[in-house]
Amino acid sequence: MDYAENILGTIGNTPLVKMNKLVEDLPCLVLAKYETFNPGNSVKDRMALQMIEDAEADGRLKPGGTIIEGTSGNTGMGLALAAIVKGYKCIFVISDKQSKEKMDILRAVGAEVVVCPTDVEPTDPRSYYSVSKRLGEETPNSWYVNQYDNPSNAKAHYQSTGPEIWKQTDGKVTHFVVGVGTGGTVSGVGKYLKEQNPNVKVWGIDTYGSVFKKYHETGVFDENEIYPYVTEGIGEDILPENVDFSIIDGFTKVTDKDAAVYTQKLAKDEGMFLGNSAGAAIKGVLQLKEHFKPDDVVVVLFHDHGSRYVGKMFNDDWMREMGYID
Ligand SMILES: Cc1ncc(COP(=O)(O)O)c(C=O)c1O
Repeated sequence: MDYAENILGTIGNTPLVKMNKLVEDLPCLVLAKYETFNPGNSVKDRMALQMIEDAEADGRLKPGGTIIEGTSGNTGMGLALAAIVKGYKCIFVISDKQSKEKMDILRAVGAEVVVCPTDVEPTDPRSYYSVSKRLGEETPNSWYVNQYDNPSNAKAHYQSTGPEIWKQTDGKVTHFVVGVGTGGTVSGVGKYLKEQNPNVKVWGIDTYGSVFKKYHETGVFDENEIYPYVTEGIGEDILPENVDFSIIDGFTKVTDKDAAVYTQKLAKDEGMFLGNSAGAAIKGVLQLKEHFKPDDVVVVLFHDHGSRYVGKMFNDDWMREMGYID
């Protein structure tokens, strides 16, 4: 018999899928690392489990404890699945711009969800960074995960996602392209791939309203770059410790409109029903066209599943209201 001991045993070993119609103008092979095959439907299951196991190992997370995190949904899902199997409680703090589906999904897996305003400074006591920290201090026997600065986040991708991509491409990967939020995925995968072959180029996808691209290019944390945006999952108004700027060769920014339109195109042109950051990622790959040669093997990682966006990017009324389609 061939079965997993529990649902956590199904995390990782996701497929790599060739992209066709959407990338027909590119000279190279484009392969999608398709992370929705994880049990929580996102790449974040990998780092959620790693963060919990490392916290258990050094005593930060104790039996019967409460896991507290500020999460846009996917990390929460991963943490919740592991918490169910391992017997912990979860409280998640989420910003009000996140889709209702994401909040409902977290409640469905037993988490308590606290919703905070998006348009406040990170230092504001109402911000989701501040509220998660405060709950971490006030709740007995709790552990505040802090995916932004928790090194187990990038470590998960260094130990699993990176090696999988290297093996699946038979070491032929030349470029890795991925949306950047906490930075765990880009830093962990990028570090592993560059250790195997220092010529691999690592590109981060950023959004307008986020500080990453300018900081990478100039070393300046420019507050004028920060304003509210619609794209979910990528871009930040802080510099998470998990973003290792030294392994990133460059960032390209994708507009909210393009990210939304390309989220629809992935579904309609490739049969890939994926989340909003996947739309941003594939549009970013197209924007980088001039960097690719015929023999290149470009791997783009798609973080999460389209079901979490049915009220937004997959709702044409919403798309029209936003001015993204006619
Ligand atoms: C949908 C989605 N895309 C992209 C990202 C960015 O990944 P990372 O945090 O590893 O940089 C996240 C992280 O929250 C996400 O939820």
